[in-house]
Amino acid sequence: MPPLIEMKGIERTYVMGDNLVHALRGVDLTIEAGSSLAIMGTSGSGKSTLMNVMGCLDQPSKGTYKINGKNVGIMSKSELADIRGRMIGFVFQSFNLLSRTSALENVEMPLLYQGVSSRERHRRAMAALAQVSLKGREDHHPSQLSGGQQQRVAIARALVCDAPIIMADEPTGALDSKTSYEVMGILQGLLAQGKTLILVTHEADIAAYASRVITLRDGLIIDDKAQTPIDAAAALARVTAQRDASDKRVAEKAS
Ligand SMILES: Nc1ncnc2c1ncn2[C@@H]1O[C@H](COP(=O)(O)OP(=O)(O)OP(=O)(O)O)[C@@H](O)[C@H]1O
Ligand SMILES: [Mg+2]
Repeated sequence: MPPLIEMKGIERTYVMGDNLVHALRGVDLTIEAGSSLAIMGTSGSGKSTLMNVMGCLDQPSKGTYKINGKNVGIMSKSELADIRGRMIGFVFQSFNLLSRTSALENVEMPLLYQGVSSRERHRRAMAALAQVSLKGREDHHPSQLSGGQQQRVAIARALVCDAPIIMADEPTGALDSKTSYEVMGILQGLLAQGKTLILVTHEADIAAYASRVITLRDGLIIDDKAQTPIDAAAALARVTAQRDASDKRVAEKAS
């Protein structure tokens, strides 16, 4: 079987007036199905550019990119849109939720583009929201939800099409540490369902949840290492137990 993702000599050059910006300078990267990968690197190193190419939102200037052995470089716009819809669920840093629309409708949106019937959309969006523990919040608009809840709506939206690859750009960037554990727990749970997880992060703490970390510098991969990932669910349970114990001590002192 071909690898899920195979990039060879990927370059992405932006033309800015008379200047060329070499955002990616020759990236070789193979990702196996069912694995988790964190992409790290300083600001401007090319992380989002790589994620956009990988997610078929952008095409490389040079190099070959294959998903499941199929050459993405020679696909038309509509073929790309199709592969994106079937293969990839995106979680964006800024959540990208529609503000005047309920959580449920936000999650239904990708299915609308795929022409799924209204009844089926409703059923699948309800199930995706339940999967991220947002039962009872379906009718809330984004402004009526906490940051962590909004991020979970964004994850539910990425899950609703049941795409095998989940890509997340700074999924915990705007969240406190306990909520980060919850979100990473949900994302790690997807690995157990056989999905492939690719995340961009500035934070070593977050990269620690992935089984492989690559580091970009000036548009090139300068480091690629395998590691034993931290278990987010266990980390959350530990933090919760510590907090409960300290609450209990406070209560005992008070009585
Ligand atoms: N649309 C564009 N047009 C021109 N140059 C761009 C464009 N997008 C990105 N760049 C340039 O390409 C380089 C890589 O940008 P990219 O957004 O991939 O960085 P990043 O690693 O995601 O950074 P950050 O951590 O700040 O999000 C930068 O030098 C940036 O200025
Ligand atoms: Mg970026």
